Amino acid sequence: DKGNRRHFMEKEIHEQPEVISHTLAHYLDFTSDSSKPLDLPFDFAKLDRIAISACGTAYLSGLIGKYWFERLARLPVDIDIASEFRYREMPISKDSAAFFISQSGETADTLASLRYCRSAGVPIGAIVNVRESTIARESDVVLPTLAGPEIGVASTKAFTCQLSVLASLAVRAGVARGTISREQEKALVHQLSEAPRFATQVLKLEEQIEKLARDLSRYHHVLYLGRDTNFPLAMEGALKLKEISYIHAEGYAAGELKHGPIALIDENMPVIVIAPHDRIFEKTVSNMQEVAARGGKIILITDKKGAALASVKTMETIVLPDVPEIIAPLIYALPIQMLAYFTAVFMGTDVDQPRNLAKSVTVE
Ligand code: M6R
Repeated sequence: DKGNRRHFMEKEIHEQPEVISHTLAHYLDFTSDSSKPLDLPFDFAKLDRIAISACGTAYLSGLIGKYWFERLARLPVDIDIASEFRYREMPISKDSAAFFISQSGETADTLASLRYCRSAGVPIGAIVNVRESTIARESDVVLPTLAGPEIGVASTKAFTCQLSVLASLAVRAGVARGTISREQEKALVHQLSEAPRFATQVLKLEEQIEKLARDLSRYHHVLYLGRDTNFPLAMEGALKLKEISYIHAEGYAAGELKHGPIALIDENMPVIVIAPHDRIFEKTVSNMQEVAARGGKIILITDKKGAALASVKTMETIVLPDVPEIIAPLIYALPIQMLAYFTAVFMGTDVDQPRNLAKSVTVE
């Protein structure tokens, strides 16, 4: 049931404050601002690395997770696209654990990767939305996303719930490994608790984003740029746009711009820059200047401070609330999803059932 929404995707985008909140509450205790103990088949303190494997949007959530695990828990992460991982013959360290991320829990390549790790004898965790799925059944521990059924082929709420699980786990790992103090844990958990409230605020930008989508739907190519956790988000934005609007899009690490994609920049190539005012904002600003100098049209997604300091002419600036760094990926995912959604609506595509795609990819 779509309720009063035109598409499941639209409904699912709007469910995010609620489902993020449910998912976080499963892993975090907001009365004491601490991460809840988990019954894990391994000890985070004893691991020397973890492996993450997944496909599509789930893979991109894992890529953001890598930044968190490495930063907060000083735990190195090997992350792979499942279809590569399963054939790569990666040596698996005995002191590692493997995580598989999947909304459906049925993705063939992800399941094959899981079985590869199973045969290597490492403990296996599944971050899945469908708890009765094959991936959940074959894992040692299920770390659920509480997104509820996701019907639209384009993953939206499952993605932000995967991020919620990964952020919570990274905090837990940091506590277990002694890389974050009790004070830091408190602060991080409190910051995470604010994600639903900020998400609600961002959903109110619908009108601005819908107007922008009308302009965007006139282009044939779009480039997304971001640094740090905004790099996977840039790839997620591009994936979302191409899969439902059929507009060609690429997501790049902003620092890679001058290693190739800058050759594409002209007035027919909008560049969407995802850049909250963070520690590397200045670097992204210089990338924007390079784009502007070549006549590129910039759509900047940032916060108030970022908008004030960007010092480039933009086609549009979407100003989000100032959010703590840990929740930025969850919050910045929303305008990206909304932009893809409205662009697809203007293009007149079948938003919930885009051509050639299946919700659950059970063949390789
Ligand atoms: O069910 P899964 O999470 O394993 O699916 C993985 C991908 O097929 C999926 O995320 C796909 O990329 C989405 N349609 C993207 O919106």
